[in-house]
Amino acid sequence: MLTLVTGTTGQVGRRFVPRLLDRSQPGEQVRVLVRDAARGARFAELGAQVAVGDLRDEATLGEALAGVDAVVNIAASFRGVPDDEAWAVNRDGAVALGRAAQASGVERFVQVSTNNVYGTGRGRPLTEEDESRPGGQLWGAYPESKAEAERELLALKGLDVRIGRLPFVYGEGDPHLADVLKWAGRWAPHQRLQMAHHADVAQGLMRLLYAPGIAGRIYNIADDAPVTTVELYQLNGVEVPAGLHAFTDPDPWFGIISNQRIRRELGFRPIYPSAWTARDAGAL
Ligand SMILES: NC(=O)c1ccc[n+]([C@@H]2O[C@H](COP(=O)([O-])OP(=O)(O)OC[C@H]3O[C@@H](n4cnc5c(N)ncnc54)[C@H](OP(=O)(O)O)[C@@H]3O)[C@@H](O)[C@H]2O)c1
Repeated sequence: MLTLVTGTTGQVGRRFVPRLLDRSQPGEQVRVLVRDAARGARFAELGAQVAVGDLRDEATLGEALAGVDAVVNIAASFRGVPDDEAWAVNRDGAVALGRAAQASGVERFVQVSTNNVYGTGRGRPLTEEDESRPGGQLWGAYPESKAEAERELLALKGLDVRIGRLPFVYGEGDPHLADVLKWAGRWAPHQRLQMAHHADVAQGLMRLLYAPGIAGRIYNIADDAPVTTVELYQLNGVEVPAGLHAFTDPDPWFGIISNQRIRRELGFRPIYPSAWTARDAGAL
């Protein structure tokens, strides 16, 4: 089995690939797609094949997919990019990769998505059966483009697509946990953030990749215990701002996702059920 992984120079991908290589059985191989060949060197050192390409350049995708049995599409463009780039990479690029994978006989396609596709909350944890409800504090080109990519990929005939929806990902030196304080200063103290540690994201994605018989299925990949804004400050060792109590939470269930399906169907158990466990393990 040869698995092509995209987005490997990003926060999620760079921590996923070493784990995928580490868990590979004899005969299993990993190929990474990078935009800049030089940035593939560290993966080659770990034993991965390296393909150079860009999701916006279909001509590069056929070669990257030659001989590939499975794809894990982690690549996305969403950190402060213009909307047209978000659409071009997150929807059009993902779908182009799906079509190219379909054409070259790829057996499995794991699409990495986001809990932001749910939009506004419903007064309970969001489940994979819930439709997108546009709106909420983080709505925009990013969640919309990811939601459309999901729909278009799932509609591709003959391609076994599995969707993994991630919440806020953290751990292992990812600056995300510190960066969140840029926004947390406008959040109610009791507002909660759903999270998943990189070790659990990797665990979840590998479960989606290896499980038989789950074509077309969507899975939330999340820990058990969303943390409050106050805890985000505490985890960062930063004093809670005095004025935070003045903010209210417009939707206490925004972004809060259930992990019951992936637990029940794929045996997922978070290695770090909460960010505090990760903190105590020295894994932040
Ligand atoms: N991090 C989170 O908290 C979070 C939460 C929910 C969902 N997700 C999802 O998880 C995935 C990874 O997120 P991340 O935090 O790792 O993002 P990231 O750090 O911004 O990394 C994005 C990756 O995508 C690659 N990429 C961007 N445009 C590309 C293109 N046109 N062609 C090929 N590759 C391209 C980047 O390559 P370059 O290095 O060349 O730019 C990089 O490897 C995304 O699908 C995102 O939607 C992440």
